[in-house]
Amino acid sequence: MARKKTALKKSGAAKKGKTAKPKKSTGSRKKFQTVRGMRDILPQEQPYWQRVRKAVEKVANDYGYQRIDLPLVEYRQLFERGAGATTDIVEKEIFKFKTRGGDDVALRPEGTPSAVRAYLQHGMQTLPKPVKLFYIGPMYRFDRPQEGRYREFFQFGFEAIGEGDSILDAQIIQLALRIFHVLKIKKVSLQINSIGCKECRPSYNKLLVSYLKNCRSSLCMNCKQRLKKNPLRILDCKEEKCARVIKQAPQTIDHLCDDCKNHFTSLLECLDEIQVPYVLNSYLVRGLDYYSRTVFEFFVESKETQSQAALGGGGRYDYLVKLLGGSDTPAVGFAMGMDRLVAQMKEQKVEAFEPPTPRVYLAQLGDLAKKKSLRIFDELERSGIQVAESFGRGNLRSQLKQADRLKAPIVLIIGQREALDETVILKDMASGSQEVITFAKIVKEVKKRVKRL
Ligand code: HAM
Repeated sequence: MARKKTALKKSGAAKKGKTAKPKKSTGSRKKFQTVRGMRDILPQEQPYWQRVRKAVEKVANDYGYQRIDLPLVEYRQLFERGAGATTDIVEKEIFKFKTRGGDDVALRPEGTPSAVRAYLQHGMQTLPKPVKLFYIGPMYRFDRPQEGRYREFFQFGFEAIGEGDSILDAQIIQLALRIFHVLKIKKVSLQINSIGCKECRPSYNKLLVSYLKNCRSSLCMNCKQRLKKNPLRILDCKEEKCARVIKQAPQTIDHLCDDCKNHFTSLLECLDEIQVPYVLNSYLVRGLDYYSRTVFEFFVESKETQSQAALGGGGRYDYLVKLLGGSDTPAVGFAMGMDRLVAQMKEQKVEAFEPPTPRVYLAQLGDLAKKKSLRIFDELERSGIQVAESFGRGNLRSQLKQADRLKAPIVLIIGQREALDETVILKDMASGSQEVITFAKIVKEVKKRVKRL
């Protein structure tokens, strides 16, 4: 029906007896650019990213976390219910759309609700607890793009589902710090707070609201809205006028119930035991509604942006599993922004991942030699030898230069004659010595020499 209406509308010109002018083709050759807030991660950047991925995989393995890959697209309600319908992430930043089939879906803004959804969907409740999962991948938030803030950004996250003991909170913080250590990112500070549980939070909220209502006129527009919907988030406001109000506000840690107090004290004792320094920030609440008890965030002083960048954060979410349809199941986790980690690695001049240098460079001259090189490349690669080549080049001198640049210790040269004889010239780049060997002996000979290096 709707389609018919549009068709009628479109034919309005025809009804009036006019012929619709066909649009002139400008023949314009538009140069496409990335969509605002999205970017390419170019080959020269990849070594840094590779290092981050390797560090995450190593530490995950050491701490017994298993990888899970979660879809980019989920039902929108998962995030509304998970992160909270009145959070900035869901209210303002979610990329939502309808599928052709009419489903309301969204690009994931974070991984935690998806991890819990997967935990429930695949019956992981029956596994020994805690179930330890980690993920790496892109996330989408329609935020105002700026340095370190993108609409498509990458996160890795760790989630331990099924254990309420604060030792898990301490261990997950230890794990996160281990990743900074492996990546050689220094000067990271840990801020930590407890925001209570469903027993003590309501009375604290009441206290907070009554204090904030008295200062309503001094709050920013956003916080005036938050006062009705999500007062705790006001504590996190960066506006100067709100900061003045927040300074005098009642603090969460002064209003914890005994259980939450004991949980937090025991977490801090664990951190002391493993000598992890922390800053108690009683205004740290985080931007997601699912948190309870422990919340924490990692900051680094960025010289480039002259500000504190949040590299990652997390906390406990003891009610989320139940909220998403499971039984009462405590959980704790964190996520880090990989784009920001890479920026810090560069700022702190951390070395990028060095791909292994080739052991052999394959140089060829002439058509037949080129074809034979393809075969030899395959044989060497299959036997685990790192080979480099530039099949497109025909000039031997430029190929040898390339071999030198790549620091390949052995060069195999196949000219027209060698190709016919099924031999190669093996050149030792350090001594300059050369010898002729048959195709059949290449792998054995190269292996022997590589071993000696
Ligand atoms: P989050 O604090 O929203 O937590 O995000 C974690 C990290 O992702 C941030 O500290 C930041 O480094 C990075 N990040 C967030 N937004 C952007 C952006 N627009 N551009 C670049 N980087 C960004 C979470 O997402 C929770 N799911 C963490 C968690 C896991 N809590 C429990 N388990």
